[in-house]
Order: sequence, then structure tokens, then C-alpha cells
Amino acid sequence: MAANNTLSISFTVNGEKFNNVNVPSRQHLADFLRSQGFTGTHLGCEQGACGACTIEMDGKAVRSCLVLASQANGSDLKTVEGFDDKMMEQVKQSFLKHNAFQCGFCSPGMLMTTKEILLSKKKLTRDEIRSEISGNYCRCTGYQSIVDAIEECINEVN
Ligand code: FES
Ligand code: FES
Repeated sequence: MAANNTLSISFTVNGEKFNNVNVPSRQHLADFLRSQGFTGTHLGCEQGACGACTIEMDGKAVRSCLVLASQANGSDLKTVEGFDDKMMEQVKQSFLKHNAFQCGFCSPGMLMTTKEILLSKKKLTRDEIRSEISGNYCRCTGYQSIVDAIEECINEVN
């Protein structure tokens, strides 16, 4: 329902229910999540190019800078703060082991994309891993360590 350019929406983030929250009708989901304290969702380009804002929406990885907050009405969202299951703990440990973080700015998006890769159950070559993460920019690591970490995760999951 719209009033004064706001909309009332309800959704779930990391299992926590938010009911009848007013959101500005033109605010994107990444800004909205950050305003609610989910600052693990990073903002880089704000035009869908860098992948820093990647979150999970109803089981699919999306760029939250390209989604209006109002479009999340009724959705089940997961941000990097909600990475608490066994698979994601293993992903985090692999990234740490391979030093796949430097400044960490890209890391939430990389972790989200890695989760999607693992859920697809595809056995990927290193070139294919690079292709899968081509929508996530990292300005620090040179990607080698990130590919090492993801490759290890794929081998353990499959
Ligand atoms: S901030 Fe969303 S893709 Fe770059
Ligand atoms: S670790 Fe710095 S941008 Fe990726």
C-alpha cells in the first residue's frame, strides 16, 4: 500500500521476520538492507556491474542494487550475515585458508556467488569457475586465491 511515496512491505531476512515496514518507493534493496543494519551487503557500482551487493532472494543470487526494496515484499532474503550453515562455514574456512580476502570489499558478493555455484552441484574447471565469478569484481587478490578456495569447496561438496 502506497502512502507519501512509501510502501508497506513484509519479508524475512536471515530467518527474522519484518512485518509492515515502510520503504521509500524508489529505494533499492541494498540501501534498504544496509539501513536495517545488514551492512555486510556492500555497494560498489550501484548499476549491476561489480557484484558487491549480491544477496540471496528466494533461493537465487541477485544484485540487490538492481532490485527495489518494494519488490522484496513477501520474499525470503539471505545476506552474508546469515551464512551460518555447515556449507557456508566450510566456504568461509576455505577462503581464509587460501587468503582469498584482502580488503574484503568484494567478499560478501563472492561468498554469495560461491554458495550458488555449490548449490548447482556442478563440477567446474578452473576456467569455468572464473567464468562463474566473472560478475564479481575483486580489485585486490588477482582472483587466483579465490579460484583456489572455490575449487576446494567444489571438490568437497561433489
Ligand atoms: S553495487 Fe550492485 S552490482 Fe555493484
Ligand atoms: S579482496 Fe579487495 S576487492 Fe576483493
